[in-house]
Amino acid sequence: MRLPTTTAAILGLLTTLSTSSPLEPGLNDLSRRQAPKGKGAPRAQRADTAVSLKETTWNPPASMKQDLDDVWAWVIKRRPQDLKRGGWVYNQILDNNGALNYCVRWHSSATADAATRAAILKGLQVQSQKWADLLVGFDGWPYTKVPVKIVGWAGTSQALFPGLNETAEGKYSAYKDQEGVPQCNPDCGHFFHMNSEFFPKCQNPKENMYSMSLWLSDNLGGGAGGGGDWGQRTYRTATIAQFKAGGDAMIYLHEMGHSYAIDDFYDWKPKGQTNFIMMAGSSSYITEFDAWMARDWWRHIKPKNLGGSSSGSTMAGGAPKGAGGAPKGAGRPAAMSNGQ
Ligand SMILES: *[C@@H]1O[C@H](CO)[C@@H](O)[C@H](O)[C@H]1NC(C)=O
Repeated sequence: MRLPTTTAAILGLLTTLSTSSPLEPGLNDLSRRQAPKGKGAPRAQRADTAVSLKETTWNPPASMKQDLDDVWAWVIKRRPQDLKRGGWVYNQILDNNGALNYCVRWHSSATADAATRAAILKGLQVQSQKWADLLVGFDGWPYTKVPVKIVGWAGTSQALFPGLNETAEGKYSAYKDQEGVPQCNPDCGHFFHMNSEFFPKCQNPKENMYSMSLWLSDNLGGGAGGGGDWGQRTYRTATIAQFKAGGDAMIYLHEMGHSYAIDDFYDWKPKGQTNFIMMAGSSSYITEFDAWMARDWWRHIKPKNLGGSSSGSTMAGGAPKGAGGAPKGAGRPAAMSNGQ
């Protein structure tokens, strides 16, 4: 909603995506995923078994230091405004007492039966935790498990969600964006309220506030997707199949990396790295290098009051809120414009 049509056109990023979609310039794309490189390609260390991630301060493996510095130099040069943006998943988790609330945008005329809905919830819980795990214990990050809840199902008809128990599963939303695509009410969306008091018009934000959206579309190629602080957009059937399969849901994991503010690497890559999930098509899992990129973001944008060793912080507000309350907008300066 925040990206004017003219900006989108100039960026040339959006082909079949609607131009009013809330996309991050430079982060999102609908590029087809390349086939993984040949058999001879080295396999990078998985993040979830990487010994270096036991480090609790900025101390990446020597083989990655220069590359991480190069990535960060690129961020500073190309996306300085994004350090102040205040809507990335780090911020979302802090703003919601250590949890993530999702809206599922069901961009399809197919039926989402109870089993499908359960698979989506399970997939979101399992796959999003793969990223959240990488911050555990690092530099003041205050959480271990990050519970995921679906609070809304947006679709063209409630009949597409047979037997939906709105108390247990999340409420049906008939709301649509300007392009007619189902979404949950922006009054309750974190993305739409980064620059103002939190959710002043949201009815019962404690129940209805959503951190971001999983936008499941039928009109995308199988490998296409988009991601940003608004959530992730992926191909519906492929994503549900990957969620059901368990393992690593590659496209979701890549797009979630964008929600953690990490870039694509289509036009350049750090010299020493060959495979990592944010370099599309080169890895089906989150690697040690991906994890240190996320940690680099966190140490640069974390709130000062969260301790740790690094210098931080440009992230306003954001200290973990007291238990129980609805998210409040305290401490969020109006200057946190997204500049778009
Ligand atoms: C819906 O879920 C709630 C909470 O789990 C439960 O108490 C209630 O019985 C459910 N309703 C139906 C109709 O299954």
